[in-house]
Amino acid sequence: MGHVMANDQVTNERTVAFLGGGRMGEALVSGLIRSGGRSAGEIAVTARREERVRELADRLPGVMATISNPDAVRWAQTIVLTVKPQDMQALLEEIRGEVRPDQLVITFAAGIRTSFVERFVPSGTPVVRVMSNVPVLVDEAMSVISPGSHAEDKHLAVAEELLSTVGRVLRLSEKHQDAVTATSGSGPAYFFLLAEAMIEACILLGLSRDVATELIIQTMVGSAKMLRDTGRHPVELREMVTSPGGTTIMAIRHLEQAGVRAAFLNAIDAACKRSAELAIGHEPEGRED
Ligand SMILES: NC(=O)c1ccc[n+]([C@@H]2O[C@H](COP(=O)([O-])OP(=O)(O)OC[C@H]3O[C@@H](n4cnc5c(N)ncnc54)[C@H](OP(=O)(O)O)[C@@H]3O)[C@@H](O)[C@H]2O)c1
Repeated sequence: MGHVMANDQVTNERTVAFLGGGRMGEALVSGLIRSGGRSAGEIAVTARREERVRELADRLPGVMATISNPDAVRWAQTIVLTVKPQDMQALLEEIRGEVRPDQLVITFAAGIRTSFVERFVPSGTPVVRVMSNVPVLVDEAMSVISPGSHAEDKHLAVAEELLSTVGRVLRLSEKHQDAVTATSGSGPAYFFLLAEAMIEACILLGLSRDVATELIIQTMVGSAKMLRDTGRHPVELREMVTSPGGTTIMAIRHLEQAGVRAAFLNAIDAACKRSAELAIGHEPEGRED
């Protein structure tokens, strides 16, 4: 039969539709094209407002930009839902009837469980949930993917392939997604707060804001690169800059006295609980890594 569109194009395996072309959707599409993961002609992106559709069409030449979610769903083999969590139900209701069980649905929204998406798609449709983070915008995301009830290895492989164009990807069972949300999902905010605090400290010491910003940002980037590229444990790296009786250990004493380590444990624990409270859909049963 094929799935014939107005332009007589038959759905091909590589077609991907991003429903909700906002910041994340656009970043994913442009990362995918830049990396050569997909050609522009293999991608569709939708938006709610005509103005945004025009903007996406201008910014992503060759990509099918449309206001019609049903058209995009009929056209694509893989459907990526990149709307905000609060817009997810309306979107799913709109495309309900259009999704086929041979398609793959990837949901990107924080806190939307696969079981919720599965309610709106034909029984047996594979659904994969992704929790990514804001460094998607610079191709340095940390994305975690989890299978829904009908997603198999080959479906996870498609999600992995798409997301690896904008950063790193890990597979974990869905029961870990609240922890992932509290750590890598919200994590960039913790680092931004730390940057802010360290910049303020430079200013306290009489440095200009420009100098402070440059010192701290480059220090964070350099330290992050060391953590990633050397593969050495953070304790080991910290010991490298903590000489006996020196300045660093003096600062560390104050950080420990202020309970910074415990504050991180408590903060991330609270974020994880909040993520579980806000999540929409039922807890998946008995799925292990
Ligand atoms: N930002 C992050 O750090 C982050 C991290 C991890 C995951 N996420 C997830 O990524 C998703 C997108 O976040 P974002 O920051 O990209 O949000 P965003 O910039 O607001 O993008 C969402 C887009 O979806 C469009 N939209 C809403 N309903 C639609 C519909 N029915 N049909 C077509 N388009 C529709 C919106 O259109 P309008 O412009 O007309 O409103 C908007 O352009 C969220 O679910 C979020 O949980 C975000």
